[in-house]
Amino acid sequence: MSLERKWDLRKLAVALGKGGTAKTTTAVNLAAGLARAGQPTLIVDLDTQGQVAPLLGVSPPAGIAEMVLQEATPEEAIVEARDRLYLLAGGPSLAGVKRMIARQDYGGEYTLAKALASLEGKYRFVVLDTAPSWDTLNVATFFYATEVLIPVSLETMALQALVQFIQKLDDIQTYRPELQLRAILPTFFDRRVRQSEEILTQLKTYYGSLLYPPIRYNVRLSEAPSYKQTIYEYAPHSAGAEDYQQLVERIILNGPA
Ligand SMILES: Nc1ncnc2c1ncn2[C@@H]1O[C@H](COP(=O)(O)OP(=O)(O)OP(=O)(O)O)[C@@H](O)[C@H]1O
Ligand SMILES: [Mg+2]
Repeated sequence: MSLERKWDLRKLAVALGKGGTAKTTTAVNLAAGLARAGQPTLIVDLDTQGQVAPLLGVSPPAGIAEMVLQEATPEEAIVEARDRLYLLAGGPSLAGVKRMIARQDYGGEYTLAKALASLEGKYRFVVLDTAPSWDTLNVATFFYATEVLIPVSLETMALQALVQFIQKLDDIQTYRPELQLRAILPTFFDRRVRQSEEILTQLKTYYGSLLYPPIRYNVRLSEAPSYKQTIYEYAPHSAGAEDYQQLVERIILNGPA
């Protein structure tokens, strides 16, 4: 019998039912940071926008949709985008996965869990970038993920979305108690904007230790994708790189209870 302990795979969904709160930016720079920290990490793009592959400068022939639909094997679909950083790309073909889930009489929520089950033991982290919606694919994501990280921009409308989203997660947890809300990550923090500070204080009052230190507004983060680079490659000394590096360290240390 092998004495070597198999890694527990941490499956982290980056999600919120509101657009433009830095989900993809967070998923990419978190996953890339984990890989740089020596943790084999798979990023899975579950958005029909399919931004992760172009953002990392790769164009794989297949992705998560083809793997779920059994049109490609994991070996064909998974590409190594950087050292220890692996990718299952998203894109329009995910519409076919949604149709497949919709056709099933029962069990559709386990679609992703079934398709990704064979990956246990190969990675330390799976980071799932999700679309700003609450559809069958998002539900299937929460039946696979074990942790949820919510990037929330510091504006009133995003706060409303956050409250609704946490209620829906609560409902899912009734069926899937192993799913933990890991962190609420404030994004686009700007000290010069009074609303930013006020909302941060409110979040701290409501969510206490679930609230992680904010990611500051940093123009380098919005420029990096044009160069197909992560923030560590494009601007390693920027505030964005510093903030995401800090997030990576917290996520590594602050694992499941
Ligand atoms: N901290 C930041 N400072 C400045 N710009 C940022 C920051 N974080 C993200 N951005 C930029 O904001 C825009 C939206 O970010 P992103 O695409 O990550 O959001 P999203 O939540 O994934 O959006 P969607 O809901 O459409 O998937 C992008 O242009 C991104 O480069
Ligand atoms: Mg996105």
